[in-house]
Amino acid sequence: MKNKITLLFGLLIALVVSNQKSVSSENRQIWAFLVAGSSGYYNYRHQADLCHAYQILHENGIPDENIIVMMADDIAFNQENPTPGVIINSPGGPNVYEGVPKDYTGKDVNPLNFINILSGNKTAMKNIGSGRVIESGPNDHVFVNFVDHGGAGVFCFDEEVLTADVLIDTLKSMASRSQFSKMILYIEACFSGSMFDDLLDDDLNIFALTAADPHESSYACYYDAKRQTYLGDVFSVNWLNDSEHESLPQESIHHQFEKVRTRTNASHVEEYGDLDIGETKLSEIIGFRMRGQNSPPAPPINDDVHFRFVFCFFLLMNCD
Ligand SMILES: *[C@@H]1O[C@H](CO)[C@@H](O)[C@H](O)[C@H]1NC(C)=O
Ligand SMILES: *[C@@H]1O[C@H](CO)[C@@H](O)[C@H](O)[C@H]1NC(C)=O
Ligand SMILES: *[C@@H]1O[C@H](CO)[C@@H](O)[C@H](O)[C@H]1NC(C)=O
Repeated sequence: MKNKITLLFGLLIALVVSNQKSVSSENRQIWAFLVAGSSGYYNYRHQADLCHAYQILHENGIPDENIIVMMADDIAFNQENPTPGVIINSPGGPNVYEGVPKDYTGKDVNPLNFINILSGNKTAMKNIGSGRVIESGPNDHVFVNFVDHGGAGVFCFDEEVLTADVLIDTLKSMASRSQFSKMILYIEACFSGSMFDDLLDDDLNIFALTAADPHESSYACYYDAKRQTYLGDVFSVNWLNDSEHESLPQESIHHQFEKVRTRTNASHVEEYGDLDIGETKLSEIIGFRMRGQNSPPAPPINDDVHFRFVFCFFLLMNCD
């Protein structure tokens, strides 16, 4: 009798738990914030990386209502672009510009807006760009992809920097307000590790992947003679390519990290924060849809160039 009751009780618990599980995953939404902080034709690659990320999320079925794009949008129709309206991210690659939403462009690409959008401050964004912000709740996953120049403890943006302490404070207060169940940040910038190293606690359900460790440049690649610019950055090209060719419901973030780290030989790809989150499957972060064979693999990277001594020009910092 006692055993039966225990069994019954166990079943009941199992039922409740499994029910809760399915309820919470049904209610879970993915929110994505895609940001290229730089402007200018010579920074072509940053917006190319970012537009490519949008295409992957879009093809994976994440609705535009859940994606916010912030980029200067001065590349596709730049007078230096020999193929107006077209941005590519690899030699011979497809146009990644088509259909990319334009929530925030031009001068709206700045650190203050970045923070207000990420933290869901709708009031602050009223009458700016699309006014949309990340409206995630406690069940949701938030994916942030940021591409820009960076320096020690800063992301450059165009005229103003975002400092590590402002970013970390924002992440902490979002965690304390239960604005996500998991947040994943993929960051392409020189010195990007310095935004998180010894700063991001491991109990916030936040995981960050960076193109470079705290002390080094990240690298551009795919110089295009016709366009006279680099088409991509090594870390970005590698994670985007991996996301296009692996089975996302099976591959974990950590597994992708290991592969991207191996393929990004010029800088050290690093992970920070709650490393247990690395077990999360990529489909729970960037979506998933069965693909045909129509994504051509990114061609081999034969060049990689760092941009030491180039920019944030206004601070004379070492940045990519
Ligand atoms: C949102 O932005 C407004 C206006 O900038 C500011 O006064 C307010 O404190 C912000 N709210 C939060 C929760 O940070
Ligand atoms: C990285 O690998 C590429 C291609 O194999 C090579 O051309 C480049 O020199 C390597 N870079 C470094 C810093 O080892
Ligand atoms: C892109 O992924 C494909 C398939 O895994 C692989 O063959 C190719 O080498 C990758 N390209 C780069 C640049 O890593």
